[in-house]
Amino acid sequence: MLRGSGIRKTLAAKFDDELKFFKGWIDKPKTVGSIVPTSSITARRMASVVDLRSGLPVLELGPGTGVITKAILARGVQPANLYAVEYSADFVRHLNRLYPGVNVIQGDAFNLDDTLGALKDQKFDSVVSGVPLLNFPVKQRVKYVNDLLDRIPAGRPIVQITYGPKSPVPPGQGDYVIEHLDFVFRNIPPAQLWVYRRRKH
Ligand SMILES: C[S@@+](CC[C@H](N)C(=O)[O-])C[C@H]1O[C@@H](n2cnc3c(N)ncnc32)[C@H](O)[C@@H]1O
Repeated sequence: MLRGSGIRKTLAAKFDDELKFFKGWIDKPKTVGSIVPTSSITARRMASVVDLRSGLPVLELGPGTGVITKAILARGVQPANLYAVEYSADFVRHLNRLYPGVNVIQGDAFNLDDTLGALKDQKFDSVVSGVPLLNFPVKQRVKYVNDLLDRIPAGRPIVQITYGPKSPVPPGQGDYVIEHLDFVFRNIPPAQLWVYRRRKH
């Protein structure tokens, strides 16, 4: 009996998350991008790039309902060591309720100097990005990656989720190398994960 009600609660929470996400998609399809949250398998794969030994905080961009946030915390990152930048006020409220110790910042991931304010010169270990890059012009995507790479040490990754067959950021537009991290079929829609790094000189 208890077990059944536990399962019902878990399913209700999941359904609630998906409803919130879907509502966000109806309100702002361009910024939300996908119609359902990332699967936990994809989220874990993205979080796997974090190096816990670096001692540096992690920057998450476009956390939405927090599926990837949860995976980053499950990897062992302390909530106070995670900075999550989200555009939507609704998602920010939801994230603050769900993950009280995480530094959730409402703002634009394409304008991090303003969004991070006093933290604009902070170095991060890595960047985990769920921002729907394909909805933005290529020039803006290239600027995004180049700006983010200035915020992490050379060699450390930005991991980006996308749904197209190619890297959303083309090669040869800046000082970065591109690596295909994974194709995750168990995601709706199936997801491609790309990594961008600066070469260590
Ligand atoms: C496709 S959803 C991904 C959400 C979540 N990370 C996941 O994978 O389920 C994209 C998220 O990025 C946020 N977003 C879009 N543009 C943004 C921007 N310029 N700055 C910060 N967040 C943004 C949206 O509000 C939404 O929560």
